[in-house]
Parts: sequence; structure tokens; C-alpha cells
Amino acid sequence: MSADLVVGAQWGDEGKAKVIDYLSKDIDIIVRYQGGANAGHTVVVDGKKYVFHLIPSGVIYPNTICVIGNGVVLDPDFFLKECVSLQNEGFDVFNKTYISDGCHIILPFHQTIDSLLESNSMPGEKIGTTKRGIGICYADKMMRTGLRAGDLLDDTILKNKLKMIVQKKNLTLTKLYGLQPVTYEDIYEKLKSFIERARKMIINTPYYLNEELKKGKRILLEGAQGTGLDVDFGTYPFVTSSNSTTGGAITGSGISFHYLKHVYGISKAYTTRVGEGPFPTELFDDDAEKMRELGHEFGATTGRPRRCGWFDVEMIKHSVRVNGMTSLVLTKIDILSNYDKIPVGVGYELNGKKIDFLPTSGLENVKVIYEELPGWNTNISGISNFNNLPGKCKDYIEFLEKRIGVPINIISTGPDRTHTIIRNI
Ligand code: IMP
Repeated sequence: MSADLVVGAQWGDEGKAKVIDYLSKDIDIIVRYQGGANAGHTVVVDGKKYVFHLIPSGVIYPNTICVIGNGVVLDPDFFLKECVSLQNEGFDVFNKTYISDGCHIILPFHQTIDSLLESNSMPGEKIGTTKRGIGICYADKMMRTGLRAGDLLDDTILKNKLKMIVQKKNLTLTKLYGLQPVTYEDIYEKLKSFIERARKMIINTPYYLNEELKKGKRILLEGAQGTGLDVDFGTYPFVTSSNSTTGGAITGSGISFHYLKHVYGISKAYTTRVGEGPFPTELFDDDAEKMRELGHEFGATTGRPRRCGWFDVEMIKHSVRVNGMTSLVLTKIDILSNYDKIPVGVGYELNGKKIDFLPTSGLENVKVIYEELPGWNTNISGISNFNNLPGKCKDYIEFLEKRIGVPINIISTGPDRTHTIIRNI
């Protein structure tokens, strides 16, 4: 009867999958609403690690239905590979996953163009994309020249659309980028194996989801990336090409906003970012190296080392604001056990003046105001009761809570499902 939402409060990789996994146990349907195979969600169950890219991590629960919403851009080859590998792990993924007929399909030339543009960018212009063709596919969606999953269900429609797309795209590929043209036959053949396996999974998901909500089912909406990478509210142009924030959850799933109840924002107890773009509290010293090593801060999708820095209150306040966040989940607090002093970015100055918002442009020019909190220097890994945390660790959490203005109800102290503190829910 209600839908809850999990949204990244920073630049992605906040540990959303673990929270989604934790919340999924009471959920009937889990919906991924934006992004594509650029995301990497890691879940650890009984010491075994699972990495998800496109399929919602709720697939692990036997009775949870997974939905790839209309806001996602779907790479057919990648999708099939991920389904097969999950099936080999014993998850019945082909029988419990639906794909929205409104999902846009990533075609081979989307990746080719993404890689080409990234490789040929001038210094300072590079976005640092995952080269999975995400932005180029969304650009085609907005240009109204995309192919949608629903188009694959009727062979005549598919052939006509694909011919038109290939004809137009070949002009861009050859004349603009100096690449070889693609052939309609090649792409059609590649899509055939996807269609064979996925045909029965493609449905009208806005209808399905709203009908299920009416019947009393509980839905969890799963965002990829984070608020700092949102195309509207992130650090444009160093963002992904979709709305990872709450608005994107509504347009990317078709669920009526009236059903939305809890918005859980997820943030690490510090900050990381992959790819280019401003990062006010970034560290370049041994403290960053320590965070990267202890926190295993390497991208789950690309393996790239993540940039690391202190918690940024202003960034999280921005996330609270644009997402209508009802509470914050703090992850990886155990990594901070290894610091004597823990600075927190509590505000910004821009051009010598204090500002209390995240500037739309000029974030790279802000001066961060820090407050330093004492570290707790005690191993807290795996603690699952708030009262068992050292006093200084509780103080750190309560300090953040007061500054950001929403409660911190879930705290993660380690990678396993059980390494979780639930507080005041
Ligand atoms: P794209 O989404 O591949 O176009 O990449 C755009 C930006 O988003 C780059 O800075 C990527 O590193 C970043 N990005 C995309 N997906 C993720 C993610 O799942 N976690 C963190 N950063 C991401």
C-alpha cells in the first residue's frame, strides 16, 4: 500500500545495496528507476559477495519481484549476462523480473560514441564516464530517436524503427565522428537472442505497479548513483545523464507520488567520488589513502580508485532538500575508527561570504569550514546495538544528525547484513 525510496545522498557508491537488501525483506516488489549498467551494487550475505549492475539486489529474496523501470536504459547483452550469472547462483531471476516496455535500449553504437567522446575530451572536459553508453542512450531518448523495450515485441515495428534509427545514426557516426557505419542486420540479429529470452518479461510497468499498490503490496524504489550525480541537482556537467533523486523515482517508475512514504537517503560517514568534477572536502594526503585502503574504495563497475574526503554537511543538506529525505542511513562508520581526529565539513564560503546552500555553479571555488571531532580509536566493526558504540562515535553520529536536520535511523558498521544498527524506526 506504500512505496519507500532509497536514494544516494552523495556521489554514488554510498552502500545503497546493503540498505536495499536490508529493507527488501519486508518488500513485495523492488523497482530500479534510472541509470543502467553504470551502477555497481555490492551485497554480502553470509560472507558471500554479490555484485549487481542492472538487476535490483532484492532478487536474492525468493518472494520479491524485481522491476526494471521505464527510467532505466537497458543494455540487452549485459542484462542477459547478469541474469544468467545470477541464475547460476541459484536465483530464479528470469521468472521474477519484469522490464518496463518504456525502457530505452542501449545499442552498440551508444557505447562506441561514449568511449570515443571520453577518449577525445580535452583536459578539464572529461566526465570520467563508465563508457557504458548511458549518456548517449539518454540523449537519443530526449531526441526522440530511441528504441524502447516495447518496440521489441512487434517484429514489424522493431524492423521499421531500427531501420530509421540506423539510417539517421550512420550519418552521425560517419560524418561527425569519422567512424564506420553500422548495419541494421547486425543490430537486429544481436537483439534477437535478447527478445527470445526477455519477451515475457516486458510489460506495462506503470499499470502493473499501481495496480499492485492498490492491492496493498509494498514497493521499494531503488536509485542508482547519487544526488551529486543527478543531471539537475548534481555537479553538472560532471554527472550521469538521469535523475537519480526522488523526482526520477516517480518519472522512472510511473508510481503515483501519493504512495511515497519514506525516503531513505544513504551516505557514507565520509565522502567518496569516482570520475571527474568538484569535491569540496576531498583529501589528497595519507588520510585519503587510508580511507581508500580500509574502505576498499575502488569502483564496483570500473575498478577505478575512488577519490576520498571528509563528510560534507552542506552536500547532505542539499540532498535532504531536493529529495524530501525523511531519514539518513549512515554507512561505513567503522572505517573512521582508525583516525585520531575526524574533521567534518560544516559549511561553505564562496567569494569570502558564508553560504548555506550548494552553489549550482562554482562549487570548485568554495572554501570549506571544518569542525574537528575526536576519533574513538576502537574497533566497532559488526556492532549492531547503538548503545554498544563508544561515546565519541555516538557523539559523531549525533553531531551529524543535528547538522543535517533529519534523523539517522540506520547505521552500518560492516559489510554483512547483520552489521547494522537500527535506531528509532
Ligand atoms: P556515466 O553514468 O557512465 O555517464 O558516467 C557519468 C559520471 O557518473 C561519471 O563521473 C561516473 O564515474 C559516475 N557514475 C556513474 N555510475 C556511477 C555509480 O554507480 N557510482 C558512482 N559513480 C558513478
